[in-house]
Amino acid sequence: MSNRINGLAIVAAVAGAALLSACEPPPVNSVQRGYRGTGMVEVYRPAAVAAAATLNAPPAPSAAASPDGPRASQVFKNVKVLGDLSAGEFAQIMVDMTAWVAPQQGCTYCHAATDFADDSLYTKVVSRRMLQMTQHINADWKTHVAETGVTCYTCHRGNNVPANVWFRSAEAAKMPGMLGNKAGQNAPAVQVGLTSLPNDPFSSFIGANEEIRVVAPAALPTKGDHPSMIKQTEATYGLMMHMSKSLGVNCTYCHNTRSFASWDSSTPQRATAYYGIRMTRDLNSAYLAPLAGVFPANRLGPTGDVPKLNCATCHQGAYKPLYGADILKGHPGLTGGVKVAAAASAPG
Ligand code: HEC
Ligand code: HEC
Ligand code: HEC
Ligand code: HEC
Repeated sequence: MSNRINGLAIVAAVAGAALLSACEPPPVNSVQRGYRGTGMVEVYRPAAVAAAATLNAPPAPSAAASPDGPRASQVFKNVKVLGDLSAGEFAQIMVDMTAWVAPQQGCTYCHAATDFADDSLYTKVVSRRMLQMTQHINADWKTHVAETGVTCYTCHRGNNVPANVWFRSAEAAKMPGMLGNKAGQNAPAVQVGLTSLPNDPFSSFIGANEEIRVVAPAALPTKGDHPSMIKQTEATYGLMMHMSKSLGVNCTYCHNTRSFASWDSSTPQRATAYYGIRMTRDLNSAYLAPLAGVFPANRLGPTGDVPKLNCATCHQGAYKPLYGADILKGHPGLTGGVKVAAAASAPG
């Protein structure tokens, strides 16, 4: 009898705890991030933190190569990006790229086994562009990636195709206002945190440069002022859910929810995120979209577009990818600082 009562009490206690913690299974922890009274509290579940930690462990560092000796451009036949590296550094980055992108397949994922100078595999052509993209991120987007930077591993994590990419949804490609176009709503999707918000906030906001706005610039905005403000509002919240989920944080990591639009009461992280949005747009339009003719059909989306990046491609549940580990050290080919390294090792 008393066993049964105990059992019921436990069930009731567990159910009560679940209700109080907004349907998240306990335990749930919270940390105050803003001034007292601003409600800027970060709520997190240890289980989710542990899962993100496993996914975001940094890769094993590779053995350092000597910067001395002849340049790769002198030793090899068809080197267009990494020519200023020493032959040793060049060999090292080939080994690293294999571990980061094609650990199962090895060198021949990108190379014809009979001739390493040959460019017939699309994977090699894509990789050359990926090398340039990585250098561009590390050299020109320090407003977002700071000195931490990225390597191929930041996005690929040992996979041929990064775990998080997006395509234009078939509905976003339809004419607006067409009958039966739900704009991706009411179809809960992982990328917007399983809400019924528009599930493709990416095409307009990070595939193109549409304004990310909820607060109208004028009272009673008209179509001329601001095209379809309500649609924009819904998609803005969809994108914000994606950003929070990708970083494993709450809205208050960046906003004081008293006023989402106000920059004065936002955290410094919101400014970093602002540049992250611009960087992601730049990478999608300047690097990935132009590869449309290079990718085989089986890699393209339902409307024929290339796979593209969003915040989750790099972040994968962590506020900084790989928790900000110092992964660029010893990889001169990825910093865009190759020429400096070569000059420093020249006999003088
Ligand atoms: C993920 C793709 C990828 C993998 C895997 C890869 N490579 Fe490469 N490799 C490239 C790219 C891209 C270039 C051209 C670099 C440039 O243009 O600066 C290249 C060039 C080379 C060259 C120069 C050939 C020449 O004469 O022009 C050699 C040698 C080479 N790789 C060796 C290797 C070895 C050995 C492995 C395995 C340990 C390997 N690569 C794995 C992408 C790859
Ligand atoms: C900012 C994220 C990011 C970085 C950094 C990055 N990649 Fe990629 N990579 C992508 C995306 C997105 C795709 C497209 C995915 C697809 O093919 O479906 C891709 C595709 C590829 C592919 C084609 C794979 C296939 O099977 O179709 C290769 C090869 C590749 N990357 C190599 C590299 C190499 C080598 C580096 C480092 C020099 C690198 N990537 C750095 C995001 C990245
Ligand atoms: C990682 C930082 C970050 C997180 C987390 C975040 N936001 Fe944002 N939010 C931004 C940035 C940056 C902008 C401005 C975008 C721009 O102008 O390009 C913005 C804009 C907005 C706007 C539009 C304000 C206006 O000017 O009309 C709203 C509303 C908003 N966020 C709500 C949310 C909500 C709700 C959440 C949680 C689900 C959230 N945000 C999570 C960074 C963030
Ligand atoms: C190319 C990879 C990449 C992409 C894509 C990317 N980030 Fe980042 N992000 C980074 C790196 C690397 C850092 C760490 C910088 C540092 O160490 O300060 C970072 C840091 C941040 C920070 C600062 C966190 C803190 O606590 O200081 C925020 C916020 C952020 N990113 C938001 C975003 C948002 C939002 C997006 C999508 C619109 C995004 N990022 C897309 C690589 C990326």
